[in-house]
Amino acid sequence: MSDKYAVVGNPVEHSLSPKIHKLFAEQTQQDLIYEKIRIEIDKFSETIKQLRQKGCKGLNVTLPFKQEAFELCDVLSERAKLAGAVNTLIFKADGTIFGDNTDGLGLIQDIQNNLLFSINNKTVLLIGAGGAAQGVIKPLLDAEPESITITNRTASKAHGLANRFNSGIKSCGFDELTGHYDCIINATSMGLSDIEFPLSGSIIKPNSLCYDMVYAKKTAFMKWAAQNNAAIVSDGLGMLVEQAAESFYLWRNKRPNSSKILQQFRKILKSY
Ligand code: ATR
Repeated sequence: MSDKYAVVGNPVEHSLSPKIHKLFAEQTQQDLIYEKIRIEIDKFSETIKQLRQKGCKGLNVTLPFKQEAFELCDVLSERAKLAGAVNTLIFKADGTIFGDNTDGLGLIQDIQNNLLFSINNKTVLLIGAGGAAQGVIKPLLDAEPESITITNRTASKAHGLANRFNSGIKSCGFDELTGHYDCIINATSMGLSDIEFPLSGSIIKPNSLCYDMVYAKKTAFMKWAAQNNAAIVSDGLGMLVEQAAESFYLWRNKRPNSSKILQQFRKILKSY
């Protein structure tokens, strides 16, 4: 019988994860089934326990349950502890639940391996100070940029997040933001609305990479970046594929060729 995995969330109907994992399984010849399961908001932990009892081997967790997944785990990876959130659950044979977070690594892999932009010695601006931003800070620090600045609409949250990492990260509100940045990452949920992006285009340099963690949509951030002549403008589809590849590796001990799958996947999406 095929091993069972799923992505759980609410909403989850539009998740691309089942298609991505199907391509990974085909590429690495793994016998598995990967589904999407919507969980009612107040039923997270009981549904997870039911899925484990039914023989599910592991799960991806998406919004709004990443913090609840973090609370539920018996054992956490270091990167999950620093992210304060879990996107990958592994049900161990001894009955324990192991939690990891592959989002940040997915972002770095996409920027460095797919977009071929080295973060080392670059000035990084992270826009946003919620869960999505917190999840990527440690992997960004590990990539050894010259500096990281966090800017957020609510300045106090940017300061709080920067202080948590105690690594010389700068922080400011949108209205205090100055300077130019090599690598600008949008980790706010603004991409999902149609508003005009609120930051000055002067922070973009001619060689800047502008990256929106939201995928498969021309966001306000991406339009703003293109209008202000950023060298590279990317959505977060590659991050989605790369975080999935790392989860797949954790579960199956097989590393898919994720760059190849990303190219395949962009073609599939265009044909819809
Ligand atoms: P997530 O877990 O996806 O990061 P979150 O914790 O609710 O979600 O954080 C959302 C982020 O998007 C925050 O940084 C938020 O800014 P505030 O802290 O000021 O709320 C940001 N955000 C959402 N809508 C925004 C908007 N219209 N303009 C500016 N920032 C916005």
